[in-house]
Amino acid sequence: MSAPSTAIILTVNGEKVRETVEARTTLVDFLREGLGLTGSHVGCEHGFCGACTVRLDGAIVRGCLTLAVQCDGARVDTIEGVSDSGEIGDLQEAFQRRNALQCGYCTPGMLLTAQELLAQGGVPSREAIREHISGNYCRCTGYHAIVDAVESVARARAGGKS
Ligand code: FES
Ligand code: FES
Repeated sequence: MSAPSTAIILTVNGEKVRETVEARTTLVDFLREGLGLTGSHVGCEHGFCGACTVRLDGAIVRGCLTLAVQCDGARVDTIEGVSDSGEIGDLQEAFQRRNALQCGYCTPGMLLTAQELLAQGGVPSREAIREHISGNYCRCTGYHAIVDAVESVARARAGGKS
């Protein structure tokens, strides 16, 4: 017997989506398996690692701790959307230039989290950058290069040199 389903309407990366989901379906599973947006990753599935980070009505959330049905009427932005729009082009370029990714598993969530901080404007301290990304685990880089990349983009956006 199949589980009861609920119809939801939401906007994903600027496009209206109408789908039917089971009450237990998480947002990240809905995005990946329902919409084929596999840029959001699934790591711990318990809210610890940040691999599933997406934006919900402008604020980053854990896609593994958010149910798809909770997103009825909401706006969801994934790494595909912010990448295609060019919003984080400079940040992606900085990650590449500064070797801030290796396997890339954490990278979509890390980019969305870093962009949330950068969108506040100004040049945050390295401590503030570390604090802001502290909920996003990276098993590869040791974080130093990620902080370098985020800091360089903050300086560039503020009008300084990267
Ligand atoms: S998969 Fe969601 S926080 Fe780890
Ligand atoms: S680059 Fe591999 S987990 Fe961060």
